[in-house]
Amino acid sequence: MARLDPHSYADDTHPRVASLDWEAGVDFSSRTLEAVATLELAAPAGGPLDLDTRDLAIASVTDDRGRAVPFTLHPAEPIFGARLSIELPEGTRSVAVRYRTAPDASALQWLEPAQTAGGKEPYLFSQCQAIHARSIVPVQDSPRNRITFTARLTVPKALRGLMAAAFDGREEQGDVAVESWHMPQPIPPYLLAFAVGDLASRELGPRSRVWAEPSVVDKAAWEFADVDQMITAGEALYGAYAWDRFDILVMPPSFPYGGMENPRLTFVTPTLLAGDRSQVRVIAHELAHAWSGNLVTNADAEHFWLNEGWTRYAELRIVEALEGEGDAALMAAICRRDLDEAVARFLESGQGGLTRLRTHLWGIDPDEAFSTVPYEKGNLFLHAIEGQIGRTRFDAFAKKYLDTFRFGSITTDQFLAFVEGELPGVLATIDAPVWIDGEGIPASAPTIRADRLDAVNAMPFDVPSVETGKALTSTEWNLWLERVPRPQAPTWCAAIDDRFALTTSGNMEVKVSWLRLALASGYDAVVPEVERVLGSVGRMKYLNPLYGALLAKKETQGLAKAIFERVQAGYHPIAKQVMRGRIEKAFAAG
Ligand code: BES
Ligand code: ZN
Repeated sequence: MARLDPHSYADDTHPRVASLDWEAGVDFSSRTLEAVATLELAAPAGGPLDLDTRDLAIASVTDDRGRAVPFTLHPAEPIFGARLSIELPEGTRSVAVRYRTAPDASALQWLEPAQTAGGKEPYLFSQCQAIHARSIVPVQDSPRNRITFTARLTVPKALRGLMAAAFDGREEQGDVAVESWHMPQPIPPYLLAFAVGDLASRELGPRSRVWAEPSVVDKAAWEFADVDQMITAGEALYGAYAWDRFDILVMPPSFPYGGMENPRLTFVTPTLLAGDRSQVRVIAHELAHAWSGNLVTNADAEHFWLNEGWTRYAELRIVEALEGEGDAALMAAICRRDLDEAVARFLESGQGGLTRLRTHLWGIDPDEAFSTVPYEKGNLFLHAIEGQIGRTRFDAFAKKYLDTFRFGSITTDQFLAFVEGELPGVLATIDAPVWIDGEGIPASAPTIRADRLDAVNAMPFDVPSVETGKALTSTEWNLWLERVPRPQAPTWCAAIDDRFALTTSGNMEVKVSWLRLALASGYDAVVPEVERVLGSVGRMKYLNPLYGALLAKKETQGLAKAIFERVQAGYHPIAKQVMRGRIEKAFAAG
């Protein structure tokens, strides 16, 4: 018996599930999916088959001849969930599992109409990465096990279902509609994704449209108008786009991430709609995953850097192709700074293990281990390789890497063996083992600087003149605000907010940097806005620093807890868990 993935019961001595046929009825009143998952095996087989489940109520398991198949649903274990072990009769081709999901399934967020832009209809969406697919489908929930699928969702007729898959049609029957899809390319289970709501779309280009609630969709279409150029830039770097369409779904504000690279239908936070196209790099990032990640992914979460490190690298290259070297250089320098900060924090808090590229995650929840390190250290490591061989050879190497492992899921060792084969000796020159298994950042790491970052770093900390402030981009504002020493006097805070109205900025990056600075300065005038943001935006990138700023000061710790208690019902299950953990930790530390 071999379980290779630290977060899955999938056993590589058991038959492999090759495809899924999923039928699910969406019931907003009970907040459940009533579903049948038919798992087709790669070849007829018998014997044990272990599946991952979390909070699923299993009604029955039957084989392809309709016979009941014996199964055991084991007690739930932390992180994993409950193992469903099935005893397959010899020669089984497929098994059908009938089940119901729990109202608090970790992959789902069920929204009341009041939590949507339109305020009239409910909304439902999934977020399966890293290991939440098992809370909506019994599967071998490891990225090692890629599957194709077909799916049918039954939704209320007033709503529309969307799935990260090829759409096959919609049939209305009474007060419901049945919508169908298929996914011909094999995907890791973490890329299963769907949403149900009052949704409208606008065309963006020959292979892209944007979906959002009707009142948001025009703004979204403007913000993402350049997406086709991005796809073209990605293809020039990494070869033909393999997923046919690149559509975008703008989520409700509680979406916990900036973006999620669901194939054919990237999910993004509405905080990208800044009205200035300043956040489109998130689109470049999710698009880059069409190659790094969705085509070649990590075998399990210990090799997550292969997924996000490559994607950060490709994101920067796409931005460079579209916006020029200046923007890309500034971004790269910011990434380097973020990495240094994250590494210092982990080393100080005794979590140096999380600064390795290859991590050890047995017993650790991937949502808890999530950080910027695999993104930025991974990107920097790839830069170190590029530095040895030059960009032309590196680009050819990247293409061959993607070709070689196309539709695969690989480990760090497989990557290293490939590099050694293609670029003999390079790993030794850059001290690869120190990068991969060492803590911190090797002293030989490339230094990355940018004139525009140096210029912001040289700015004084007095309240900028109107002209200086107007000349700053939102990124520069953000960088400067992060550097301003704290606390600042209330008069300073009042003066800057009077002049530039940062509290009501439409750009969330700027707003949150300002609110943090203001909170650290004890400038209480911003508290109502902090409460409003914490109660209406679920993107963890913003929740983390705002709760962090409140928890950092004795005077506002209680406020952090009170706000959380009041608004947490509207948070996504993942955000709820992560923020509750932070608050409990802060209170335990006193
Ligand atoms: N796949 C990630 C989001 C993710 C990672 C979800 C791990 C669940 C577990 C996505 O591609 C991502 O990295 N999003 C970033 C955007 C970005 C530009 C780095 C985000 O959400 O901030
Ligand atoms: Zn990513």
